[in-house]
Amino acid sequence: MCRIVGAPRTLLPLLAALLQASVEASGEIALCKTGFPEDVYSAVLSQDVHEGQPLLNVKFSNCNGKRKVQYESSEPADFKVDEDGMVYAVRSFPLSSEHAKFLIYAQDKETQEKWQVAVKLSLKPTLPEDAVKESQEIEEIVFPRQATKHNGHLQRQKRDWVIPPINLPENSRGPFPQELVRIRSDRDKNLSLRYSVTGPGADQPPTGIFIINPISGQLSVTKPLDRELIARFHLRAHAVDINGNQVENPIDIVINVIDMNDNRPEFLHQVWNGTVPEGSKPGTYVMTVTAIDADDPNALNGMLRYRILSQAPSTPSPNMFTINNETGDIITVAAGLDREKVQQYTLIIQATDMEGNPTYGLSNTATAVITVTDVNDNPPEFTAMTFYGEVPENRVDVIVANLTVTDKDQPHTPAWNAMYRISGGDPTGRFAIQTDPNSNDGLVTVAKPIDFETNRMFVLTVAAENQVPLAKGIQHPPQSTATVSVTVIDVNENPYFAPNPKIIRQEEGLHAGTMLTTFTAQDPDRYMQQNIRYTKLSDPANWLKIDPVNGQITTIAVLDRESPNVKNNIYNATFLASDNGIPPMSGTGTLQIYLLDINDNAPQVLPQEAETCETPDPNSINITALDYDIDPNAGPFAFDLPLSPVTIKRNWTITRLNGDFAQLNLKIKFLEAGIYEVPIIITDSGNPPKSNISILRVKVCQCDSNGDCTDVDRIVGAGLGTGAIIAILLCIIILLILVLMFVVWMKRRDKERQAKQLLIDPEDDVRDNILKYDEEGGGEEDQDYDLSQLQQPDTVEPDAIKPVGIRRLDERPIHAEPQYPVRSAAPHPGDIGDFINEAQAQAERGRTLNPWSVGTVWWRPREVASVGHSEILGT
Ligand SMILES: *[C@@H]1O[C@H](CO)[C@@H](O)[C@H](O)[C@H]1NC(C)=O
Ligand SMILES: *[C@@H]1O[C@H](CO)[C@@H](O)[C@H](O)[C@H]1NC(C)=O
Ligand SMILES: *[C@@H]1O[C@H](CO)[C@@H](O)[C@H](O)[C@H]1NC(C)=O
Ligand SMILES: *[C@@H]1O[C@H](CO)[C@@H](O)[C@H](O)[C@H]1NC(C)=O
Ligand SMILES: *[C@@H]1O[C@H](CO)[C@@H](O)[C@H](O)[C@H]1NC(C)=O
Ligand SMILES: *[C@@H]1O[C@H](CO)[C@@H](O)[C@H](O)[C@H]1NC(C)=O
Ligand SMILES: *[C@@H]1O[C@H](CO)[C@@H](O)[C@H](O)[C@H]1NC(C)=O
Ligand SMILES: *[C@@H]1O[C@H](CO)[C@@H](O)[C@H](O)[C@H]1NC(C)=O
Repeated sequence: MCRIVGAPRTLLPLLAALLQASVEASGEIALCKTGFPEDVYSAVLSQDVHEGQPLLNVKFSNCNGKRKVQYESSEPADFKVDEDGMVYAVRSFPLSSEHAKFLIYAQDKETQEKWQVAVKLSLKPTLPEDAVKESQEIEEIVFPRQATKHNGHLQRQKRDWVIPPINLPENSRGPFPQELVRIRSDRDKNLSLRYSVTGPGADQPPTGIFIINPISGQLSVTKPLDRELIARFHLRAHAVDINGNQVENPIDIVINVIDMNDNRPEFLHQVWNGTVPEGSKPGTYVMTVTAIDADDPNALNGMLRYRILSQAPSTPSPNMFTINNETGDIITVAAGLDREKVQQYTLIIQATDMEGNPTYGLSNTATAVITVTDVNDNPPEFTAMTFYGEVPENRVDVIVANLTVTDKDQPHTPAWNAMYRISGGDPTGRFAIQTDPNSNDGLVTVAKPIDFETNRMFVLTVAAENQVPLAKGIQHPPQSTATVSVTVIDVNENPYFAPNPKIIRQEEGLHAGTMLTTFTAQDPDRYMQQNIRYTKLSDPANWLKIDPVNGQITTIAVLDRESPNVKNNIYNATFLASDNGIPPMSGTGTLQIYLLDINDNAPQVLPQEAETCETPDPNSINITALDYDIDPNAGPFAFDLPLSPVTIKRNWTITRLNGDFAQLNLKIKFLEAGIYEVPIIITDSGNPPKSNISILRVKVCQCDSNGDCTDVDRIVGAGLGTGAIIAILLCIIILLILVLMFVVWMKRRDKERQAKQLLIDPEDDVRDNILKYDEEGGGEEDQDYDLSQLQQPDTVEPDAIKPVGIRRLDERPIHAEPQYPVRSAAPHPGDIGDFINEAQAQAERGRTLNPWSVGTVWWRPREVASVGHSEILGT
């Protein structure tokens, strides 16, 4: 068993507790021990105790956490323990040995289990002699027996026998080496033993802190210890004999370094920043400051308390904030935080250990900077009750007035930015207010043009608000509303015609000098005495004039619906109205005259020139009439020939085809070729009707059998269309090709003839040749039917290019030359196709015809066809 021999005065009272702890330790080798974690609590005081002075904390270790223990002091008259295990002095008294030791009990409220711990209070040793004296009495630790006889049985000694730890205050001032304890073995009586210690602090780093006298077994510490460096040393003591044999099992020695208050609290930051909204209620959390102390946090040395040393500025009250002395939470305690008055508070915070004991505790300070943040507790207020502005009429986007406001909140934040609203006086929305973001001013502008003649003055009611609503409980004062008085300035405006365009209906043919209408303009400037003068801007036919003063429009010429200046019966004229303001303004107006038709135009013959043959058959001239008037003053027309000269009616006859057309025919059998001017009376259907004699120039010419003029010389002069010219060119080309073919054919024929003459008797040859040819047929004379039936050029010839009533003179070869074009035409592929088609058509009509002979008929003029040149068709 462990035995403590000659324990120093300080340790004696702990024996019971130590025993208890030992028993428990031997019973349950528990990771967690329910009970007081320390075997003995000691506190070193520098002075006598005062009433209510917290002394130390005997914190109960509660493993499962469910136990509720009640503390009791063995000296209730002097010391008391609170729920947290904090021991306080009940009264003030000088510290003497009598009060230096007492016991604290802890009792489980449920199980009634009871623990106790010794508390030792001591004054700081002041006399070094005392310390020396004290150190004379040295604790002795004896190696436990390896085996012990118990009731005659040999019992094995438990291996982990616990030696009570040695408590050693840090920062001891010596003298060193300072003896701690003496290690001894019972066997030293018979044997000469050698003692040694091992472990960190002895033979392992940090080496040499603890040394042992190998003979006497005195364990000493060689220098002051620092709990904050190493709080506990685990050494192992050995005893060997002179030969080095182990005579005892090693024992473990624990040296606890007892904390002393040798560390100041240190704040984590020197400057702590926090914010709090202005107007916050008392109790609003602001921030937390934290300091740490390297000393044992479970002892007073490490128990910090915070307090506020100073507050700057001290308005509106010197104690605007408080700090939770344990947690460091800073909260507000007073109302009246106002950013507009104090934007920032600076607090000096102090942290003190020894639970804030100002006498013993060590302190440190830090700064807490608390910024008061803005809330919208100030509405924008207009700097004036009424603002004045003026604006010219008809102008937009001009600044009318400049509204200035003040807002005490933080500039350029939503709590400061103003928004303006027109709350009255502008039912038509003519004004708008924009905020100048830099100055927060409200700029009143014109959104829609204003008419001076309608409104000469506006009185607007405007209101200003912040972008965010005001803080609760704050109302908009009357200064958030103002009046804006806007004067409208009259400017000279354009006179305008109304209606514009003005449309009037008027019969044409009106005499010059007739008053048509009055076309006047209005001047919007009702409040200006102005005169308007009128002038003519555009009058394409120069028919009108306008009175410069009264705007009366009079004709100066006859209005004619048929004038080229009239479109769709409408004649446009524009006029200018100018006032005499400064500067002068003007406006234009259009007068549209819708002209009604009268029968003022007689019909004329159309065309004015025509052609016909010398004989009446089969030609006739189609004529119609041209009348510039419109229905009902135009057609239907009556066509007639005048009575004089007498020869007109004798030579010509006119036949009405319908209301628009008539036919002029030759009445006599033959009229010599030449130009004749035939007067024709045409009468329209107007009321009254209008008629005139118009001259039709008729060219009488010699015609071919088709009724076509043969007068080539006059073709070109007759004003041919491009189609006709192309046709002429085509004919010429075809003719040239025919001539060419004919020449080629002639040459080949000559060659054949020469070849035949070499082979056969020339006499026989001639006859045979003729015979052979006759057999082939194809000659027109061989046929027993009338070929003239096939001569239908009109049905095949394209008629489309021929204008109605005008005979063209150029469509056919005028003379029957060349006389033999038939064979030559055949090689042309298009022509061949035509020939075959025609042949098929003829065949279907039941006639068997040589296609080549059809071609011959087609192209041969009548006179030539009758001659019958059979040789052409041979081959
Ligand atoms: C040691 O000596 C004592 C007497 O001096 C004796 O009684 C004891 O038996 C001895 N022990 C051993 C282990 O020699
Ligand atoms: C508080 O603000 C100051 C100044 O801006 C700065 O130097 C300091 O580091 C800040 N402190 C913390 C804890 O952020
Ligand atoms: C700490 O605060 C508590 C309660 O707020 C108070 O009772 C105690 O006295 C304060 N301690 C110190 C050291 O100020
Ligand atoms: C509005 O008025 C203020 C002071 O009267 C002036 O500083 C500011 O320039 C004005 N703003 C405009 C746009 O005129
Ligand atoms: C007259 O004015 C109208 C409308 O501007 C237009 O349509 C018409 O073509 C004009 N007539 C003439 C003849 O210029
Ligand atoms: C009418 O015909 C005769 C010849 O028969 C001629 O001399 C005369 O000029 C013609 N008159 C008119 C107007 O065609
Ligand atoms: C009739 O026609 C002639 C010429 O053809 C012309 O000179 C005359 O003015 C016309 N008369 C009328 C009323 O159109
Ligand atoms: C003349 O006009 C009639 C009726 O429009 C028409 O049938 C006839 O073919 C025309 N004659 C000529 C040669 O254009």
